[in-house]
Amino acid sequence: MSVILITGASSGIGYQTAQDLARQGHTVYGAARRVDKITPLAKDGVKPLPLDVTSDASLQAAVTTLIANEGRIDVLINNAGYGSYGAVEDVTIAEAKKQFDVNLFGMARLTQLVLPYMRQQHSGRIINTSSMGGRLVSYMGAWYHATKYAVEAFSDALRMETKAFGIQVSLIEPGGIKTNWGFIAADHLVASAQGGAYEQQATKAATGMRRQYASKLLSQPAVISKAIAKAVNQRHPRPRYLVGFGAKPLVFAKAILPTRLFDFIMMHAS
Ligand SMILES: NC(=O)c1ccc[n+]([C@@H]2O[C@H](COP(=O)([O-])OP(=O)(O)OC[C@H]3O[C@@H](n4cnc5c(N)ncnc54)[C@H](OP(=O)(O)O)[C@@H]3O)[C@@H](O)[C@H]2O)c1
Repeated sequence: MSVILITGASSGIGYQTAQDLARQGHTVYGAARRVDKITPLAKDGVKPLPLDVTSDASLQAAVTTLIANEGRIDVLINNAGYGSYGAVEDVTIAEAKKQFDVNLFGMARLTQLVLPYMRQQHSGRIINTSSMGGRLVSYMGAWYHATKYAVEAFSDALRMETKAFGIQVSLIEPGGIKTNWGFIAADHLVASAQGGAYEQQATKAATGMRRQYASKLLSQPAVISKAIAKAVNQRHPRPRYLVGFGAKPLVFAKAILPTRLFDFIMMHAS
């Protein structure tokens, strides 16, 4: 059984995954800012850790606590993230930097902090939550997709350079998953567009997004939790797990369709 740290454990995919892995018998530290939302998982054995992935001090404190308690870390699951949707002209560079801080640099810093322990153990797994959105781009999602494309590149590079130390790196690429993610992204989209040139399209797209995330079409977080459990438990974890609503067909369509046709589909998707 493994000692696991998972970020973004207060909600959605992270919450479900922390619960499932703890029930499998792993020692799971669930981290997030809203640590009170993780306490219900204490009954399953999940240990709540306060964590803001944008704060270096907070990241260091989380790793120090885990190592002090367990003396090792076997698996890091970088899952915390949100969608900063909005037209490029509308989203401030300050917000774009925040999007990168949460979705990329938080994962990068946490990776740096756990690597010395994993190298010393000559074993470890780092599982990074990207998205199908790390391989294709949806309407008005420039900064979100820029972070997820970056997560893909970062993880591919990390996998190659840590292989010799016995460390394995996997990417989780969810499709549409029924969590708060879509509502948070829609809120960002509407707020960024208020009173501007893109307001009409943005409002329409946000309404479509909310409708989609309220529908039964999307996959449940358990679908992703299962894929993450494979990356944790399989003897030979895969570099990529592309799973959940729309993921495989859309990535396939992106690969075979002319760019303008794919653009058209994405612009009219919601
Ligand atoms: N749902 C989808 O359709 C979908 C599709 C593809 C990829 N994903 C990715 O899957 C991951 C999980 O998303 P989800 O769908 O489960 O959304 P969610 O329900 O909104 O959960 C997001 C989690 O990220 C955490 N988080 C956000 N900002 C943080 C910060 N600064 N520090 C620490 N934690 C932070 C939140 O915790 P606190 O706010 O409590 O800190 C929360 O636990 C994200 O990386 C997302 O981009 C989701």
